[in-house]
Amino acid sequence: MKKIKTAVFPVAGLGTRFLPITKVIAKEMLVVVDKPLIQYAVEEAKEAGIEKFIFVSSRGKNAIEDHFDSAPILEEALRERKKFRDLQKVIDSQLDSGQAVFIRQHSPKGLGHAVHCAHNLVQEEAFAVILADDLVLAPKGCLKQMVDAYEQSDGNMIAVENIPPSETFRYGIFDIASQDGKKIKAKSIVEKPAPEVAPSTTAAIGRYILKTTIFDNLKNAQAGLANEIQLTDAIQNMMHETPLTGYHYDGTRYDCGMKIGWLEANIAFSLKDPEAQEETRLMLKRMVKELA
Ligand code: UTP
Repeated sequence: MKKIKTAVFPVAGLGTRFLPITKVIAKEMLVVVDKPLIQYAVEEAKEAGIEKFIFVSSRGKNAIEDHFDSAPILEEALRERKKFRDLQKVIDSQLDSGQAVFIRQHSPKGLGHAVHCAHNLVQEEAFAVILADDLVLAPKGCLKQMVDAYEQSDGNMIAVENIPPSETFRYGIFDIASQDGKKIKAKSIVEKPAPEVAPSTTAAIGRYILKTTIFDNLKNAQAGLANEIQLTDAIQNMMHETPLTGYHYDGTRYDCGMKIGWLEANIAFSLKDPEAQEETRLMLKRMVKELA
């Protein structure tokens, strides 16, 4: 059995689409209902059996590290006040000592470069990458679905979904060789093609299982689109020896790197939250009535 034990969380992007809040708050710390995006990503990784959590961070993002630390003064205060449910929330948000590693990407040279920053720390043959701003609502975590499917797979794997043809310029797009159930065998993958030249509407989302050989490819990678080192280019460059599978996950993804996606995620997650769903439903009904 191929166990995926390590996940890399690139969190060093500038988050310009959320300025000015991202001047001082990392995009990955933006809240959805009551948890930051990065906590959802870590919970998804835990569900998939991940034991080592590598955060590729940057200057000014210490709040991410603090979020996963213990908070003794707060915990003691909650214990004294007998607020045990709140205390549990604080404890559940921690990562054990030694489980989390924080490294820095000195300048935002692209996702491929951010992933390469973890090359000294991944020991297994394959590892996961999670982009926290792609938030997936699913009965079974997206990464867990992929890890299970990867047992009968090899090479690199990316979660995929079908997108409207007009949006290909936002995604890595698959050129499809064949499909077997939820798995797609790729002929190639191209980063953010214009709709007129896109080979399909099957788009990569922010969940990857990658062979560690990708680090060799990223080491000498040249800047591509937007003058950034693109992860997609490295995956494409190694396809002659490492096949690429797209995995059609079950669930709904919210692009929380964009304002409207983040807003939609807040509503969708709030409607699933037993403490908030009733009030959310009433609020939505009221708003829709006002709009009519
Ligand atoms: P995005 O493409 O969403 O870029 O990165 P961004 O900088 O975060 O946001 P915008 O486009 O300026 O609004 C996708 C993921 O890759 C990480 C980001 O933190 C995000 O999780 N990333 C991107 C890095 O870690 N380093 C980089 O140099 C670029």
